[in-house]
Amino acid sequence: MRTTRILLVCMGNICRSPMAEGLVRHKARLRGMAVTTDSAGTIDHHVGEPPDPRAQRCMGMHGIDISDLRARHLLPQDFHDFDLLLAMDAENLRGLHRIAPDASLAAKAVLIMDHAPAHRLREVPDPWYGGAGDFEAVFAMLDEATDNLLNALGDER
Ligand code: 4NP
Repeated sequence: MRTTRILLVCMGNICRSPMAEGLVRHKARLRGMAVTTDSAGTIDHHVGEPPDPRAQRCMGMHGIDISDLRARHLLPQDFHDFDLLLAMDAENLRGLHRIAPDASLAAKAVLIMDHAPAHRLREVPDPWYGGAGDFEAVFAMLDEATDNLLNALGDER
């Protein structure tokens, strides 16, 4: 079975994208799917840091441990190393397209909520200035999008 390599991308790589990575990793393991994951940020302010404690707490409440993840900066090479690059919001997607090595590789980058067309929001809101309820709302959006994503990948095989 071919392995699908998925990169989750947000701004700081300490809130939304490590949560999304944790969800994809957890669900792919449960389903026995050949998926590898990583996440990265469009800014480098938090490089080397673990996920924000609020993100870790929210994921922990859902039984998913993301304490091993560490923030890193997005690289042009990521377009070669991953099959799918999933952005949390339109600004992250613009950041991805800006550094894409060429137009055909740029097409690998889309909004993660493209996988949740029934949801009323197209972008995952930045919870950095929010509280536990904002992280929970992010979790619910990512839970829906990652379920659909893995269902679609499963159907392709
Ligand atoms: P994230 O949240 O992009 O979901 O990781 C943020 C984390 C840090 C900052 C902004 C957003 N920041 O400006 O430092």
